[in-house]
Order: sequence, then C-alpha cells, then structure tokens
Amino acid sequence: MQISDELAYAIASVTEVAALAAHDWVGKQDKHAADKAAVEAMRNRLNAIDFHGQVVIGEGEIDEAPMLYIGEQVGNPSAKQKLDIAVDPIDGTRMVACNEHNAIAVLAAAPTGALLQAPDMYMEKLVVGKEAKGAVHLANPLEKNLENLSSALNKPIADLSIAILDKPRHQHIMQTLRHFGVNVVTIPDGDVLASLLAILPEQPIDMMYGTGGAPEGIISAAIARALGGDMQARLVTRTLAKGDSPENRLLAEQEALRCQQMGVAIGEILTLETMVSTDDVMFAATAITPTVLMSGIAYNANGRTSSTLLINGNNRSLKIINNRHFN
Ligand code: FBP
Repeated sequence: MQISDELAYAIASVTEVAALAAHDWVGKQDKHAADKAAVEAMRNRLNAIDFHGQVVIGEGEIDEAPMLYIGEQVGNPSAKQKLDIAVDPIDGTRMVACNEHNAIAVLAAAPTGALLQAPDMYMEKLVVGKEAKGAVHLANPLEKNLENLSSALNKPIADLSIAILDKPRHQHIMQTLRHFGVNVVTIPDGDVLASLLAILPEQPIDMMYGTGGAPEGIISAAIARALGGDMQARLVTRTLAKGDSPENRLLAEQEALRCQQMGVAIGEILTLETMVSTDDVMFAATAITPTVLMSGIAYNANGRTSSTLLINGNNRSLKIINNRHFN
C-alpha cells in the first residue's frame, strides 16, 4: 500500500511538533531536556495518526529508552497502512543546547519490512548524489573514491567538497583529504543534514563520509533512495569508533549480541538497497535552529513559524512546508 500524500503530510507534522517542542530548549544548555521534549511530542503525534507504525531504529533499546525505542508500535494497530519508521527527534541535541545552527528533527518512513533494523550503534557512511551513483564504494581506498568522484562529477579533486564530522576518529581521513587538496567541510554534529546536502545536486557538498550514528545512517539512506542518490554503510563497534576502554569493550560485546539477534553483521558493507528496499519511502525534517535549506523555528507577534522539508520517493519530489503556529 503506497504512502498517500495525506499520510505524508501527517507524518511531516510529526517532525514539526518535535522541532517546536525542542525549540523551547534552544540555548538552555540541557540536551537531555531538549531530547525528552522532542521525543514526547513526536510520540504523541505519531499516536494520533491513523497508521500503524513500528520503530525500526530510534532512541535506543527498550531498557534505555522509555519512548520511541526500537520495536515500539505507534499509531493505530488496526489501521490498514503499516509502516516502518526510523526516527531521530533531534539530530544535533548538543547544537540545540548550545544554540548552534543545523539542529533538525527527522523521520523516515516506508512500508513494513522496507527499512533495515539495526541496533543503536555507530555506522560508517559514504553518501553521494545521483551523478556519482555507482562511482564510489566503501570497499575502495579513499584515494580511489576521490578519483572516481572527480571523474563522475567532471571536476578536479581539488574542487571536490567533502563533509565529515569533526571527531578525533576522523583525523586520518581529514589528513588524506587535505593531502589531496580537497575542500573539507567539517561539521561539529548532525550528519543527516550533511548527507542531505551531499544528495541534493544544487548544494555545494559532493560527498559525506565518516562514522556517525546508525539511526542517522538509515534515515540518510531513506533520503538517498528517495532522490536517486547513493549510499553504502557498515556497522562499527563502539571500540573502533570511540577507542578501547573496559567500558567501550563491554558496550561492543552488547552490540555484537544485538546485531546477531537482529541478523545484521558488523563490518559488512550494506548497500542502499539493503538499507531501504523500496522507492516508496518518505523523509521529513523540520529545522529547530536555522539551516541552509529551512529556517529554524522563529517567534513572531502571533506565535511561531516552522519550516519542514518533505521528500517523497514515489514521485521523487521535495517540498518545503512553511507553517505558522498561532498562540
Ligand atoms: P544526536 O543529536 O542524536 O546526539 O546526534 C548528533 C550526531 O552528531 C549525529 O548526527 C551523528 O551521527 C552522531 O551524533 C555522531 O556521534 P558522536 O557525537 O558520538 O561521535
């Protein structure tokens, strides 16, 4: 059953309410309170929509996330439309707490069984737009991918712009990129927005590369699938992403167990089709703080305004919905 326009709009309102709730916490230096507000708002709205959803990737495992945990059912269990949903009520909780740009509330949805279920762990991601589809591969050395990307986009390596999370684990990658004279666009947080910019042809980012969260990865794969871009990924253990310590080793053991239960293998290359198996996929993102594509939530005399980006894979469309919310 194809996702109807009506349902797509209803789902866009889910990121909208999450962003409005998170906005109350912008600059308040409390990322947990911001996240809690966004999660509650998102869950309440999901439960008010006439569809039956299952969170395939979300706030974490049931024992650590009381709401929007992996496996949680939302909406109306007897509704005909059954969807997998991947949620990140705030991508950039720290940025909300510190009043920095580019914090967004995001969600992806597709018919049941179409989104890969994976634990909340780290994921290495390589994301490009349609013109570079098939040109780059995670199995290649970075140097080779730069060459291939340069030929696919018909521009010299020195003109390529590559977005990467500014994290200690990426120092060696940034060094290689610098060596080749690439324009390195470092982002403090928020790799969903960076992936979106890499997929959109008119934006000045050619590729997003590096290790971030798996939920953000599946959500980015939904954008790539919907707009004809490309992405590969592999699940990465906590020790690899964050360093070897007794605590991280324990977490890595738990991740390995969870991956086994879910039938996904750590380190195996996941293709776009494995992560999102249909074009009938949608993505919604509402800006909490300002972004290049959407304005952040803002006050005016009568209330607040919001800007939500809605992508529908069925017709490869992208729209921005600007809403006014009166007091
Ligand atoms: P949250 O706001 O959900 O914490 O995510 C922010 C983020 O920067 C993601 O965009 C990214 O995938 C991940 O964190 C990277 O994780 P870490 O900051 O632990 O390296």
